[in-house]
Amino acid sequence: MMLSEKLKKAREFEAHYGPFVQEEHRPAFHMTPTIGWMNDPNGFSVYQGEYHLFYQYNPYSTKWDTMHWGHVKTRDFIRWERLPAALAPDMEYDKNGCFSGSAVELPDGRQLLMYTGVRQVREESGELCDRQVQCLAIGDGVDYEKLDANPVISAEDLPEGGSHVDFRDPKIWREGDTYYAVVGNRPADGSGSILLYESKDCFTTWKYDGVLAACHNQYGQMWECPDFFQLDGKYVLLTSPQEMTAIGLEFHAGNGTVCLIGEYDRERCHLVRENVQAIDYGLDFYAPQTLETPDGRRVMIAWMQNWETSGCQRKGAQYFGQMTFPRELGVKDGRLIQNPVRELEACRSYQILYKNVLLTGLTTLRNVKGRMIDMTVTVRPAVQNGLYHWFKINVAGDGEYMTTVRYKPECNTVRIDRTHCGVPHDIVNVRDFLVRPRQGEIKLRLVLDRYSMELFVNDGEQAATSVIYTDVNANAISFEADGSVIMDVEKYDLIVD
Ligand code: FRU
Repeated sequence: MMLSEKLKKAREFEAHYGPFVQEEHRPAFHMTPTIGWMNDPNGFSVYQGEYHLFYQYNPYSTKWDTMHWGHVKTRDFIRWERLPAALAPDMEYDKNGCFSGSAVELPDGRQLLMYTGVRQVREESGELCDRQVQCLAIGDGVDYEKLDANPVISAEDLPEGGSHVDFRDPKIWREGDTYYAVVGNRPADGSGSILLYESKDCFTTWKYDGVLAACHNQYGQMWECPDFFQLDGKYVLLTSPQEMTAIGLEFHAGNGTVCLIGEYDRERCHLVRENVQAIDYGLDFYAPQTLETPDGRRVMIAWMQNWETSGCQRKGAQYFGQMTFPRELGVKDGRLIQNPVRELEACRSYQILYKNVLLTGLTTLRNVKGRMIDMTVTVRPAVQNGLYHWFKINVAGDGEYMTTVRYKPECNTVRIDRTHCGVPHDIVNVRDFLVRPRQGEIKLRLVLDRYSMELFVNDGEQAATSVIYTDVNANAISFEADGSVIMDVEKYDLIVD
């Protein structure tokens, strides 16, 4: 297979400089780019029995620029093997970037990548504008060849009023002998919609089926990075809207994430909504994508960042961007449930268990500390039906720094707060969200991996994710209550060999 000069250059660059990115400056089990900048997960899929993950990638600096696709694979979602960059912007139709997309294993054993090719053209007004089209590349799990038939979905395949400037992020899947793809688009009302396409051979002809779901200016504007699948008897659409305005404590402003759950009307190719909710209630989570494991689990991974805070980078780091730890999804009572994939349990060591600890004020517990931990804290009022004002867990602490999770039973809110994590910019650091009332009882699971905290509330009813910027030596953990509570603490160190 002939590699283009641009791809060769990217591969040589990452092979030469990548090894200088010191491992101790990376998280232990959260995926990071080989070197340089990373945003969305792409092509998260099973190929020949392994999980492949591609990513939006600029190897040359820690800033976003003309996008390549980076590439890793894993067998356990914990240890990620680095592979050479998969795609470079080396064709006329993608010369300004190989944007987000997905992957599928073909029946003949090859791997198909579907991505958005971006080319900028100068409009009559003088403005430089994108032309976004959907393209294919085929490969063997390492090297990929772009198809001569590219682009396979372009402006002619749009419904009336659909924008050819904002038309991106195809998610492909196969059902029987038919391939489907959902693609984000900006319709005539200027907001967002998710279009459905299908193809029999997938290599040349794609037919437009209809609008799977539309934003109608209700949840943000352009809907990016769609994913659509069946789960626990319902249909789920994930998307990441731009320019959201805040709605209560459910949706925050800016780039957000939305999960639509409902029934699928196949005749009309339309998702009939029953519930709309945020996917992650924290600070750093965007552009999630899912795969189905051979044992039938729906697993989601996301960019553990947000565009708005992406200028805030750890000093001296030669890479920027982490993925979340992969999460197993479910639907329960019409809502999305998410928990870390069970593979994490194999990394648990040194169990520390405390039961029925009475807490009033501030305390630490012997041997409860660390920055690579999996800790579940269950809290209930000390007096039956007697409410306390709040309960806090402070992590990544050292006297100067800390990151806090606070639960307030009287208003059923959880707050994550990284104001004092050592963040060197004045960015959003606090997020509040509603949790389900349980008479003041709550279960908080925290997964820390050096520079991040992922919180799972009440067995995955809610997740809230935050990057932290604290020096790894700040590893103290304390518990605090205004009022009296009883708590159980189960804590493991996470060891990745
Ligand atoms: C989402 C996104 C996608 C696009 C990619 C470009 O974060 O804006 O819509 O394909 O990033 O890097």
